[in-house]
Amino acid sequence: MSKPLEGIKIIDFTHVQAGPACTQMLAWFGADVIKVERPGAGDVTRSQLRDIPGVDALYFTMLNSNKRSLTLDTKTPEGKDILTRLIKESDVLVENFGPGALDRMGFTWEHIRELNPGMIVASVKGFSEGHHYEDLKVYENVAQCAGGAASTTGFDDGPPTVSAAALGDSNTGMHLAIGILTALRSRDVTGRGQKVAVSMQDSVLNLCRVKLRDQQRLDRVGYLEEYPQYPHGKFSDVVPRGGNAGGGGQPGWVLKCKGWETDPNAYIYFTIQGHAWAPICRAIGKEEWIDDPAYMTAQARQDKIFDIFGTIEEWLKDKTKFEAVDVLRKYDIPCSPVLSMKEIANDPSLRASGTIAEVEHKERGKYLTVGSPIKFSDLKVEIKGSPLLGEHTDEILEQLGYSQHQIAALHEQRVV
Ligand code: COA
Repeated sequence: MSKPLEGIKIIDFTHVQAGPACTQMLAWFGADVIKVERPGAGDVTRSQLRDIPGVDALYFTMLNSNKRSLTLDTKTPEGKDILTRLIKESDVLVENFGPGALDRMGFTWEHIRELNPGMIVASVKGFSEGHHYEDLKVYENVAQCAGGAASTTGFDDGPPTVSAAALGDSNTGMHLAIGILTALRSRDVTGRGQKVAVSMQDSVLNLCRVKLRDQQRLDRVGYLEEYPQYPHGKFSDVVPRGGNAGGGGQPGWVLKCKGWETDPNAYIYFTIQGHAWAPICRAIGKEEWIDDPAYMTAQARQDKIFDIFGTIEEWLKDKTKFEAVDVLRKYDIPCSPVLSMKEIANDPSLRASGTIAEVEHKERGKYLTVGSPIKFSDLKVEIKGSPLLGEHTDEILEQLGYSQHQIAALHEQRVV
């Protein structure tokens, strides 16, 4: 079966993580993604955090699978010619350069639109156009701080904290992918391309909308009952860091299990759903709490929620995180072991579903990557190794109509 995005050609001017995560996903779903890189160097992640000398780093291979690689110096006249030809026959150009770099290269939106009115130009920037910080270059943690994630993450007595999840990078790439698919659908109807822009700050904030909800609740009532600061601690006029609190209508916390003294991940996340109070009491052997007015409603439990978590930790003392979840799942209690990356890498279910995929790379051999988190009934996503730098340069130039002789000259002049 052909893949849904087959026939869509994408000029992939992306680097580091935010842009590559977007184009990689489109490549998985069938788009022909041509990664354009500077001759000799390529995407900086090819050589960052290397674990094997001289071989593309995992940082690169895990974000650039299923793509083709074209080396091209777009600042030379010959390089600009090649890019012009590519633009004329492509559908999408994706970039996450620093502000203004594409314009300085001579490829403004107006010029690209003249070359190809159907072209979709998709960009990631740190801040949106017109923002007072629009000139700033941005990396992951900068975006997490600018998007409200850092000020609301961590513990009350600690500093603002960034998340390990790539909220600024890959998350922005996923937003951009939605934007590109929307623009492609629009082009099907109108025949016209358009500019699609996503900022890292906006994408982080989009995931922090519940914190903006909380700011407005705090402004109105002066406290937030689902935060650990309630009812014994103090609130200021800004949303505090809530530690591991559930955050929604159901309290939750990370609880110690057997072995926590030596294993940093011997914990489970435990959630107290209001309607699941009776099963929780049965599971932990505290049946007397089921009908006790001091415990039977969420409101009654609020001021002693950490004592309740303490009692559950007592119950967890002689159980590993996996044993605990095996008991709690029978009572329908939302919970999970805190999994380490090592446990995730070897998880049989994640391997079976393809979410953890083993991939072959020409120079590295086998390595693990994260496969498609989106599963389709009619599409089997196949993850291929990432391309070597310039691996497809000649093939792409031939497809653009360059002769062998011209290609050799371009190599000689170091244009490709
Ligand atoms: N041929 C010739 N020149 C090329 C080229 C090519 N194939 N590819 C890139 N370049 C040039 C650009 O034109 C630019 O030149 P200029 O500044 O002289 O105009 C230059 O390389 C550097 O680009 P830039 O993107 O600014 O790189 P940087 O290493 O200084 O900054 C970032 C890196 C990530 C901070 C910056 O790209 C950025 O802020 N991007 C937007 C937000 C983002 O995506 N952040 C990263 C998330 S993972």
